[in-house]
Amino acid sequence: MEAVIEVHDLVKEYTIAKKGSGLRGALKGLLFPEKKTVRGVDGISFSIAPGEIVGYIGPNGAGKSTTIKMLTGILHPTSGSIKVCGISPQADRKSVVRKLGVVFGQRTQLYWDLRLGESFELLRRIYQVDKTSFEENMSILSDVLKLEEFIHTPVRQLSLGQRMRGDIAAAMLHSPSVLFLDEPTIGLDADAKHAIRHFIKEINRKRGVTVILTTHDLDDVEQLCTRLVVVNHGKVVEDGPMASLIRKLAPHRLLVVELQQPFDDLEHPAAEIIKQDGLKVWYQFEKSRISAAQLISELSQKLPIQDLSVKEPDIEDAIREVYKMT
Ligand SMILES: Nc1ncnc2c1ncn2[C@@H]1O[C@H](COP(=O)(O)OP(=O)(O)O)[C@@H](O)[C@H]1O
Ligand SMILES: [Mg+2]
Repeated sequence: MEAVIEVHDLVKEYTIAKKGSGLRGALKGLLFPEKKTVRGVDGISFSIAPGEIVGYIGPNGAGKSTTIKMLTGILHPTSGSIKVCGISPQADRKSVVRKLGVVFGQRTQLYWDLRLGESFELLRRIYQVDKTSFEENMSILSDVLKLEEFIHTPVRQLSLGQRMRGDIAAAMLHSPSVLFLDEPTIGLDADAKHAIRHFIKEINRKRGVTVILTTHDLDDVEQLCTRLVVVNHGKVVEDGPMASLIRKLAPHRLLVVELQQPFDDLEHPAAEIIKQDGLKVWYQFEKSRISAAQLISELSQKLPIQDLSVKEPDIEDAIREVYKMT
């Protein structure tokens, strides 16, 4: 099948001021600024087929946002080539923009002083979406993203989760076939995360929208993505099916148990006790060996449990750990 996104040997260099050390260095830097070049993206290639949901993940500073900015035509690459739906964002940004929706979790394209619904209407005119398809889109969007409750609220008064749902709807108003989401669930409560994940699944299933998603959230990755592209220091270090990569990158989960009273026999055959502090016990286990539910049920049969929680590993730490580089 024809690829929706084709990236070949993409490089983005940034020129930054070199910092001298100490007061002397700082002064020298002011008077005689020295420049140096850093590579935010350092030779990335991949190809994405229609209808894929790809997790583009990696530690802070890995080059995720830089890649997305180049794919969406916001930044020009230093070298390399990009095709989105067969079009180069550099050569023809206007045509590419029609085909894609973009959401940056840290920013908004809504208008602070307008009500959410008015923001949509203004964007409809900017994107030149005809009234019929706008209304059709709005009814689906507001249904799945539950926008009704706050459609008349001024954007400045929206909660972060409401604003994010609004932003995702805004990115979908012109029915793009590709959606880029940069940290769409960052800082959101469980309800908003759920609504957004549900929405992504729906537009992918019903409309075949291709989704590229950067996230720190392991649940996002596990619930949404079929494929992961992992980047570190501006390079692709993994590209493959989600399940096998998660087993490689983050095989362990942590179960923290708080006991009602001291207890002798804490062992479990499928979990390792990695820490103990008073009545608190930390069990590390592999999800592929035993599920959290199974482990909890077996432990609670023998232990007097007061409280417990399952901890997801930090995906950033895991990637850094696996691909240690200087
Ligand atoms: N505008 C910029 N000027 C200089 N360096 C930048 C700029 N934007 C990003 N970088 C650098 O490029 C690298 C990749 O950044 P970024 O793409 O934002 O990473 P990520 O989104 O994965 O956290 C980092 O080292 C970052 O410091
Ligand atoms: Mg980023």
